[in-house]
Amino acid sequence: MDGGALKDALREAAANLESKTQFFPHMSTTDYRWNQSQAAADYDAAAPVIHPQYVAVQEGVLAALPFAVDQAFRLVDVGGGSGRLVERVLEQFPLATAVVMDQSEPFLGVAQQRLERFGARASFVKHRLQDEWTATVGPLDAVVSSSAIHHLEPAEKQQLFAKIFAALSSGGVFINGDEHRPAGDAEYLALLEQWGRHMESSHASGAIPESFGTVIAAWKKRNIAEFGSPRKSGDDCLETLETQVSYLRAAGFSPVDVPWSRELWAVFVAHKP
Ligand SMILES: C[S@@+](CC[C@H](N)C(=O)[O-])C[C@H]1O[C@@H](n2cnc3c(N)ncnc32)[C@H](O)[C@@H]1O
Repeated sequence: MDGGALKDALREAAANLESKTQFFPHMSTTDYRWNQSQAAADYDAAAPVIHPQYVAVQEGVLAALPFAVDQAFRLVDVGGGSGRLVERVLEQFPLATAVVMDQSEPFLGVAQQRLERFGARASFVKHRLQDEWTATVGPLDAVVSSSAIHHLEPAEKQQLFAKIFAALSSGGVFINGDEHRPAGDAEYLALLEQWGRHMESSHASGAIPESFGTVIAAWKKRNIAEFGSPRKSGDDCLETLETQVSYLRAAGFSPVDVPWSRELWAVFVAHKP
């Protein structure tokens, strides 16, 4: 390679790196803990065990979908990860089509494998929740999500809710099964410690992959050892149930219901009039 070509190659590499890091000023997207292949495979295997209400949250989201079994509708799962929730939607509603949207290539890869049997009924888009993603997923009758939106800071959540409201057709519904925090710090910390113990005992019993141990240790450091420290986008940025309901109402949703909640989890059902 001559000097000019080398300079061009270096310039291109620098631009490429910049475009990869612009979304998270404090980290590159490849550093974000959800973007490692091992993390995606481990989380997929561990999720229904380490998340004490994983299945109950899914059931709550499915129960809130306002469609008849033989109705055709289009839905997107934002932060849909490895496609576990979309799999249940497509099984339960044979005429539905669904998009899994996530910022993580490794998670989308696992989702693609899981949903291959549904053919064109399942599709996949790589976006951050903070991106302008609505135009790429087409008209929507429903938006669902589970355990993803709590990674956004308050302002990002509010922007996302406004975007979802605009993307839904009139009469559409947004159902979010996600984490929330009690108002009091002592109660919040006690619930986090309880969850930490649950994850550690699941790991010790061999119910989840051995390599997930480092993920649990990092989770405990962020959420328990550093309890009360400032949260930034990508951390676990939990708000109270009432705050999240107020964000949904401010985005224009009405009514907004919380048909189910337990410990740190709740299902928020927000209707677009
Ligand atoms: C705890 S996992 C949950 C995955 C899936 N929804 C489930 O219930 O199994 C969190 C997911 O949110 C995704 N995620 C986190 N921050 C995101 C962001 N800013 N934009 C898009 N996806 C994000 C991660 O890549 C990961 O797939």
